[in-house]
Amino acid sequence: MEHSLTAEDQAHLEILQTQIKSSPKGRGQLIPLLQMAQKVLGYLPDDALSLVADHLSVTRSEVYGVASFYNQFRFDPPGKNPVKVCMGTACHVRGGEIILENFERKLEIREGETTEDREFSIERVACVGCCALAPVALMGETLHGHMAPSKVEGLVLRVRVEKEKAEREASKS
Ligand code: FES
Repeated sequence: MEHSLTAEDQAHLEILQTQIKSSPKGRGQLIPLLQMAQKVLGYLPDDALSLVADHLSVTRSEVYGVASFYNQFRFDPPGKNPVKVCMGTACHVRGGEIILENFERKLEIREGETTEDREFSIERVACVGCCALAPVALMGETLHGHMAPSKVEGLVLRVRVEKEKAEREASKS
């Protein structure tokens, strides 16, 4: 999914540009510069790849090729409520895949993607250490055990209702 840059992204890109300018050049710098970009922006939008490419005098597709090889790099902005579905053995056996599918269907995005409003993103993670509660998912920092499709619906709804409430409050003041 294409995400347009927010004002915050633009500000971060300017910070990144300054940091890149004072960084050493050379192909060996490619990974460190990508890591720097992801640290500043939280992900790697096209403009960040271009900044890195220009600095190292390589093509943007070359930079993208390297970045997409490593799963430490993400090309979608992180959601404000990142959903992490555990796919460790215990959770997998108890239906983790079904929970993941339910989040994907409910949010209309695939694993690794972020909703257009940047509210949610979905990723699968390895065992989070609470196997007795399998299947497990995290919404932000909060762990939810014994997940079921009906709980998926409830968790998403709760975030959306709270967001609407906050927006209403903000428009009143
Ligand atoms: S396998 Fe999911 S918490 Fe351990």
